[in-house]
Amino acid sequence: MNNAAAPTPPAPSYKPTDAASVSAHVSSLSQYSALYEESLRDNDGFWAKQAERLDWIKKWDKVSDCNFNEVSIRWFQGGKLNASHNCVDRHVQNGHGDVTAIIWEGNDPAQTRKISYRELHEQVQRAANALKASGVQKGDRVCIYLQMIPEMAVAILACARIGAVHSVVFGAFSAESLISRINDSSCKVIITQDTGVRGTKQDIPMKANVDKAIGQTPTVEKVFVVRRTGSIVEMKEGRDIVWQTALDSTSPHCEPEAMDAEDPLFILYTSGSTGKPKGVLHATGGYLLYASVTHHYVFDYKPGDVYWCTADVGWITGHSYLIYGPLANRATVVMFEGVPNFPDYGRFWQVIEKHKVNIFYTAPTALRSLMKEGDAWPDQYNLSSLRLLGTVGEPIKSPEWTWYHKVIGKGHCPIVDTWWQTETGGILITPLPGATPTKPGSATLPFFGIRPAVMTDQGEELHGNDVRGCLVLSGSWPGQMRTVYGDHQRFVDTYFKRFPGKYFTGDGCWRDPDGYYWITGRVDDIIIVSGHNIGTAEVEGAIGQHNSVAEAAVVGYPHDIKGTAIYAYVTLKTGQVASDQIRKEINLKVREVLGPHAAPEKLQFADGLPKTRSGKIMRRILRKIAENELDNLGDISTLAEPAVVESLVSGRVN
Ligand code: WT7
Repeated sequence: MNNAAAPTPPAPSYKPTDAASVSAHVSSLSQYSALYEESLRDNDGFWAKQAERLDWIKKWDKVSDCNFNEVSIRWFQGGKLNASHNCVDRHVQNGHGDVTAIIWEGNDPAQTRKISYRELHEQVQRAANALKASGVQKGDRVCIYLQMIPEMAVAILACARIGAVHSVVFGAFSAESLISRINDSSCKVIITQDTGVRGTKQDIPMKANVDKAIGQTPTVEKVFVVRRTGSIVEMKEGRDIVWQTALDSTSPHCEPEAMDAEDPLFILYTSGSTGKPKGVLHATGGYLLYASVTHHYVFDYKPGDVYWCTADVGWITGHSYLIYGPLANRATVVMFEGVPNFPDYGRFWQVIEKHKVNIFYTAPTALRSLMKEGDAWPDQYNLSSLRLLGTVGEPIKSPEWTWYHKVIGKGHCPIVDTWWQTETGGILITPLPGATPTKPGSATLPFFGIRPAVMTDQGEELHGNDVRGCLVLSGSWPGQMRTVYGDHQRFVDTYFKRFPGKYFTGDGCWRDPDGYYWITGRVDDIIIVSGHNIGTAEVEGAIGQHNSVAEAAVVGYPHDIKGTAIYAYVTLKTGQVASDQIRKEINLKVREVLGPHAAPEKLQFADGLPKTRSGKIMRRILRKIAENELDNLGDISTLAEPAVVESLVSGRVN
């Protein structure tokens, strides 16, 4: 277990200010504690009460029916509801149709669109009808491959409306990543756009990527193409349909489908420690409820607040805290198509000023990249609308925490450091802004109903405080994933095998003397790069696709901006000579196979890799070399050829 990153002394606490507490949904630590205790004592009662937040077509028969030994997880069985009704229709029906649902801020600062709940309602119904007309039925899978445009929300909610299971594939993923994801869940329809714009990049080939993929995706029958840039793209007659035309020519009325609470809502692929991405499956009732409840309490959302989550909808953060949670709560959300450094490093702060953003949720990696450009950028803008700041994706360290607090929040905004995973559906460990004194770098305390526990490698639970080990959850919560799509055994093996009866997160942690949780990093073969998880095996597999490569091993190492970056060790086939050309080609290969976010930052050619006699690569040693901890390589006596270490050290890439 890698505990090296664990901080030792608890840092000073930042207490919620009176202003933050007075009006908050939970306004003191004692109130939090009482509610938390209650949520554990009567877990079903707690969630039944929370479930009143949603509109149910039929009430559930049983709140929870979960067993981690048998790995069976069910919430609100017998209940019927529709997620799109809950995110849109009911707000219109309750007289809030004029409330702005989405403030869309284009990549180009001159492009802004505001979409009210009423407009969203109409668009979603039209899109639902268009999907139906193209043959999509309840239970069918639909792949959504879009950038951050309003149609993303419309497409997602339209699927939810008719009971189709959406699988959003991040817009920067390659054609190859698209193929494996489409085929894994046999999608019938793809929704994409002509081309995309991001920062200085114009005409990102979205439709062209789909065209590349489609020869190898036999289940796809129709492709919807949103006109975003108007660039000319190939349209195949009978298969490709212009989104706008399809919506315009269909009826604006479509009854929402009554879905079982346990019916799948969506699949989202996430990296696994083997090469193949896992299709994380979330269920309708529990997921929607959990996203809504956590958004309400953690972001302390109140009517009228302008809320901005910078995450792309291609990741779980966008699903839960840009679409489902906030829209279920009738929030006004900012959806941003651009990047933090275009046209300049003031972009985020300019958007906050322009739309008077009150609640801002982003990733530590974005903060680091902006912090290094200096305070003059944020200082140019009026950030006084901000009242709450949040982070997610990786531990936030003291320098960027302090910068966020002082320079962005002007010392008066609480910061919620939210720990969770694609698999958990929503936030599990987090401060509540009006209640929890925070310590920079700690995600603090469990959310209502959540039972974290700390385990030794040997599988013993560590009770009490000031303990370090593996972070597990001892009980279920409504937002928990239900299975790996098409591979339930993989779900069982990945999350429930190592510590029987518990859900294993894959993270290490420290529960400090005050009972606060500090996430110390992954204990498995996942690397968190810029807040997104990437499996080492996936990257190794992609590198291995280069003709000259015999073998590759990748590890993470600390990186100023990305948090962790990828260091690759590559052994070439006999007769191949290492060169910058091959290095470039390998890099390109990874971009092509997985996407640019997975490309190694450093690549070292190695004659051999450190292996045990049984042939297992000792990543611990590779990690130390990548981290430049050369005095501290540990025991290398079990290596088959201890001499490789010396040559690896001398060939280290700085
Ligand atoms: C992994 C999950 C949850 C959406 C974004 C990433 C790391 C996430 C924190 C945090 C420390 C964090 C963990 C986790 N992580 N949030 N606040 N502090 N670490 O989702 O790609 O499923 O990755 O991200 O290691 O297991 P994901």
